[in-house]
Amino acid sequence: MEKLERDVVVIGAGAAGLSAAYELKKAGLSVAVLEARDRVGGRLWTDDIDGAMLEIGGQWVSPDQDVLLGMLDELGLETYSRYREGDSIYVNADGRATRFTGEDFPLAESTQQEMDKLVEALDELSKEVDPADPWRHPRAKELDRISLAGWLESLSEDKEARDNVAMFIAGAMLTKPAHAFSVLQAAQMAASAGSFRHLVDADFILDKRVIGGLQQVPLRLSARLDGDVHLNQPVRSLRSGESVPSGMGVVVTSDDVEVSARHAIVAMPPNLISRISFDPPLPRRQQQMHQHLSLGLVIKVHAVYDRPFWREQGLSGTAFGPYQIVHESYDNTNYGDERGTLVGFVSDETADQMFRLPAEQRREQILDSLAAYYGDEARHPEVYYESDWAAEEWTRGAYAASFDLGGLSRYGADLRSSVGSIHFACSDFAGAGFQHVDGALRMGKAAATAIVAQHSEQPRMQGAGISS
Ligand code: FDA
Repeated sequence: MEKLERDVVVIGAGAAGLSAAYELKKAGLSVAVLEARDRVGGRLWTDDIDGAMLEIGGQWVSPDQDVLLGMLDELGLETYSRYREGDSIYVNADGRATRFTGEDFPLAESTQQEMDKLVEALDELSKEVDPADPWRHPRAKELDRISLAGWLESLSEDKEARDNVAMFIAGAMLTKPAHAFSVLQAAQMAASAGSFRHLVDADFILDKRVIGGLQQVPLRLSARLDGDVHLNQPVRSLRSGESVPSGMGVVVTSDDVEVSARHAIVAMPPNLISRISFDPPLPRRQQQMHQHLSLGLVIKVHAVYDRPFWREQGLSGTAFGPYQIVHESYDNTNYGDERGTLVGFVSDETADQMFRLPAEQRREQILDSLAAYYGDEARHPEVYYESDWAAEEWTRGAYAASFDLGGLSRYGADLRSSVGSIHFACSDFAGAGFQHVDGALRMGKAAATAIVAQHSEQPRMQGAGISS
């Protein structure tokens, strides 16, 4: 067992943990980052699959994500725009595909009016909510006991309008059915991206990608940490309080490393925190709260073709169908690549159905769904890949965690509270940038700032400071 002494031990080398460690080192504190996997990045993972570079996890950057944009600049990373020339496609409940331009789906006029009304209502509500503390909304408790589905039903009898509006937050963001989370949680999701209209506008929310992949952020941060990141080190226990050596706040143990440190940052999604044995146990409030936060479920599907054939038909690749297996799909062709890549998403209960099928049948049905948007050619990709984060031991779902009904107003105010020397940081706890890489970076920085403030009067440990 390697034994280390540091100012801060960080558990988890995702965007949150690495940005915290980077800020701490820049401030002159010593760190050790313990990561369970054999790679850094957590839910950011850019890999080569059968000769195609694919973004298995997070990839898009939107203009409101200024902390992420600042980090890309600092790390010398460049972005490019998602391909969006030409018509989009909408497939309705009867399976009929219609081309359209702009944001408005080609719906019957009455359905369009109902959809406008619902978008307006959700947009107004999200303006009233501060994403950092939605529980302070004067009607927080009331809004937290109504599901998004129930709230939409109370406002409109038009099912297609409701299903489309729900899709932008349920299938496309929280990746849970619209009856499984509250309208307060939905409003926070929208407010965290600036407004609900931003979520409806694919050109905004799915604006840019990073050349070479978004995992470059954690990879470059890790390189700047100069040997302080320890891979293959799932943390098993965290001791704090009287049993730790004098002058220390915690002793954190993984399979091969034991770190004594003044502070710990737990930079993991909340559903995994209980896998660490805490001595003494975390307070009951945290133990309860973490059980009310769960990850959604989505299959991110990549299909790579010899060329972006849909562009020849004047299609942008952007496609929506609330009743389709793949509810949304986009041109995901890599920068400078001659081949064409489509990315599609299969969410929540539809993903359950797909995972019940044998792999070959699942692939066939998912490709059939892409063919409903782009025609028969979509059935024959050169490379096909399904990201399956729910099967990953160190994540267990996608994209991120949200509260069940009533959880946000009940526990939200304690979401980011530290417990003695133990701090918490992950995208799932963010206000602005909630569930996104931007939020992960914000949470990492916030935890680092809090620790640096406490440390300003205290002596440093060995190995402090950033190397570049
Ligand atoms: P993250 O989960 O990344 O990191 C936690 C780390 O802790 C992991 O590395 C894990 O292995 C480690 N860990 C867990 N338990 C441990 C233990 N006991 N000991 C040690 N280590 C432990 N966002 C966005 O901005 N744009 C996008 O386009 C997308 N799209 C997207 C698609 C898909 C498929 C996914 C899964 C996610 C996205 N996201 C996204 C979300 C985004 O990727 C996510 O919010 C952040 O990467 C989360 O970063 P964190 O550091 O908070 O957690």
